[in-house]
Amino acid sequence: MKRTLLFILPILIIVAIGFTIFGIIQVRFTEEKLMDDLKRKAKTVDESMEVSARYILINNDLRSARRLVESFQKRERLQGCAIYDKDGQILAITERITEWKLKEKPYLKDALATKNSRGAIEKFGDYSVYSYVLPVLDDENNVLGLLEVIYDTSYLFTTLTELWRKISITLIILISMITLVAFLIQRQIFIMPVRRLTEWFAHFQRGDTDKLRPFKEKGEFGKLVSEIEQIALGLRVARKVVSEEAHVRFQKEDVWTQAKLKDLIHAKLGDNALFVVSNREPYMHVMDETSGSIKCIRPASGVVTAIDPILRACGGTWIAHGSTEADRKFVNSKDKLGVPPEDIRYILKRVWLTKEEEEGYYYGFANEGLWPLCHVTHTRPIFREADWQMYKKVNQRFADSILEELPAKDPFVFIQDYHFTLLPKMLKDKRPDARIALFWHIPWPNPEVLAICPYQQEILDGMLACDLIGFHVQYHCNNFIDTANRLVECRVDTEKFSVVRANKETLIRAFPISVNGYISGKLKDTDKEQMNKVRDEFKLKDKIVGVGVERIDYTKGIVERILAIDRFLEKNPEYKNKFVFIQLAAPSRTHIKRYHELIGEIDELVEKKNWKYSDWDWKPIIYLKRHFSPEEIRPYYALADFCIVSSLHDGMNLVAKEYVASRGDCSGALILSKFTGASRELTDAVLINPYSIEEFADAIKFTVEMPEDEKRRRMENMRKIVSENNIYKWAGNIITELTALKKT
Ligand code: G6P
Repeated sequence: MKRTLLFILPILIIVAIGFTIFGIIQVRFTEEKLMDDLKRKAKTVDESMEVSARYILINNDLRSARRLVESFQKRERLQGCAIYDKDGQILAITERITEWKLKEKPYLKDALATKNSRGAIEKFGDYSVYSYVLPVLDDENNVLGLLEVIYDTSYLFTTLTELWRKISITLIILISMITLVAFLIQRQIFIMPVRRLTEWFAHFQRGDTDKLRPFKEKGEFGKLVSEIEQIALGLRVARKVVSEEAHVRFQKEDVWTQAKLKDLIHAKLGDNALFVVSNREPYMHVMDETSGSIKCIRPASGVVTAIDPILRACGGTWIAHGSTEADRKFVNSKDKLGVPPEDIRYILKRVWLTKEEEEGYYYGFANEGLWPLCHVTHTRPIFREADWQMYKKVNQRFADSILEELPAKDPFVFIQDYHFTLLPKMLKDKRPDARIALFWHIPWPNPEVLAICPYQQEILDGMLACDLIGFHVQYHCNNFIDTANRLVECRVDTEKFSVVRANKETLIRAFPISVNGYISGKLKDTDKEQMNKVRDEFKLKDKIVGVGVERIDYTKGIVERILAIDRFLEKNPEYKNKFVFIQLAAPSRTHIKRYHELIGEIDELVEKKNWKYSDWDWKPIIYLKRHFSPEEIRPYYALADFCIVSSLHDGMNLVAKEYVASRGDCSGALILSKFTGASRELTDAVLINPYSIEEFADAIKFTVEMPEDEKRRRMENMRKIVSENNIYKWAGNIITELTALKKT
């Protein structure tokens, strides 16, 4: 509309200016003509009276004078007339205009002195009239007196106003016609072809090849269209070739690498891109408080750590909540941007939520309800009806946003986590052809625990619309099957390990998530530099260094860890001054009371324990409370002699695997909670029960005193597991399972 206006407006302005000038000329011309007519009429009347007036003035015949002025009053638009003597004194005046006597008439003197006639518009009360004055002369050319006729001029203004009205109406009609014609022309030659081209592109983009009709445009636009058609054809051919080549390569390779996953995805998904959905976005634009500029960060989240390398490898679209104000500045008209910003590999589509929606759906139902429900860590889940309603609304919002993007045929949607239990059903209802997988990144509790959730039926119903649901470990799969069996009407197939509800079968599988598992023998120079910097800054030379990397969350066992370090130093005072533990802690979900309190609790505890042991030069715990990027974390992993992961309950825990993957020289040791999914695979870690502070403290002693050979042996085993079962294998297994389903 704006563009159409931009096109039409200049034409309209030119037409309006031209027409107004024409109108002014026309009105002026008419006005002059009317005045001329009036003057002529007045002059004629004066002249016709002149002979009689001369007689009257010579004889000073007042009776004849009165008769004369009355006899002229009935003529068309003539208001009346007056006879003046040679001094300008009135002798007779038409009765109708007697008030004319009262008016000042300086022009009479001029007429008497110059003996010239004079016509002009004069004010008469509230009206304007036309006065024509004719001097009456005797035979010797002496002035005997004056004759004045007064004409009504109101018709003059009425005529001119009427003329303006006609001109304005003509102008409005003209403008409307020009607008209409211009709009029709523009629509025909520009909007319609562009609309056809846009639709064509949309079909091409969605892989809807049946609807790609050839264009029949001519002229310059036709040439452009023809070029676009050639590019599109080239792209389709290239995609097909890539997919076939990928198939061949995929069958040759056995170790899972980025390239192998890429090949698998091209081979299995062909033209179809992968759609990933999560609440947390992989790249967030935030305001840097120190510099005041906007920077792009990768948030601290297990989901992001796991999925980002997959999409980097294979491309596709990731749909997530755009959670910061700055995020809005970096998206295009469809709320999308290419990421990572410095090396674009895939598309991120941001979904916007209001504060109330975020409050109810994310902080409320997802993180005060489902999160504590699934992590059995004795923090009571809170279920509020209003939060649940927001959760439903936001799931629908995501469903709408995803549906806009899906290709015409057989799309693949990979949903992440407990934020979207209702989304699979919302998508399946609209797109039954879509293959949908949901990966549950946190533990799934037993049926008794889940049964306390007031919305259990809708949650299970939503999830069971999936074709595949993945958990980290078999134990969580078993829990899920038991839960479905107990809480909803369904059939469990223990052989296929699936749940059938309302004729829809959902496979339940364990896929232990991992990191990209890239294991290189050497540290990068930049990492070494950073490592030395950290070592100097915190005076770590000759110290035994431990590290912990977490979001500040009550499930992570940070408090227990500090207590265990305290106990370790109490029991082994010889390690005072020789031992330092660095805790990198990213504040998280801080609007939730429990998280807010936890931050205070940890601050206080660290302060208390450091005070207990510190001398001027040393304190046992270095607590760094802020967000750290993966690049910033690397030097800490590199310098740490051991890493502690002491979650009270955790689906997998990727910090454990990241630490192992980072130990290129096979040094270092891992203390790992038995209550993490990772402990099932990393059996060479020093396994602990974080609730038992005594056992935990002893495990620290055991680890720091472990002979180097044993550390190396354990680390080698763990590295083998992480490198073989890396994130590419995880994704590959899920895609293989999902695409295999499609064929049955
Ligand atoms: C951890 C969990 C994930 C979860 C994420 C959410 O990483 O393992 O399952 O999605 O936290 O964190 P956020 O900061 O987005 O709430």
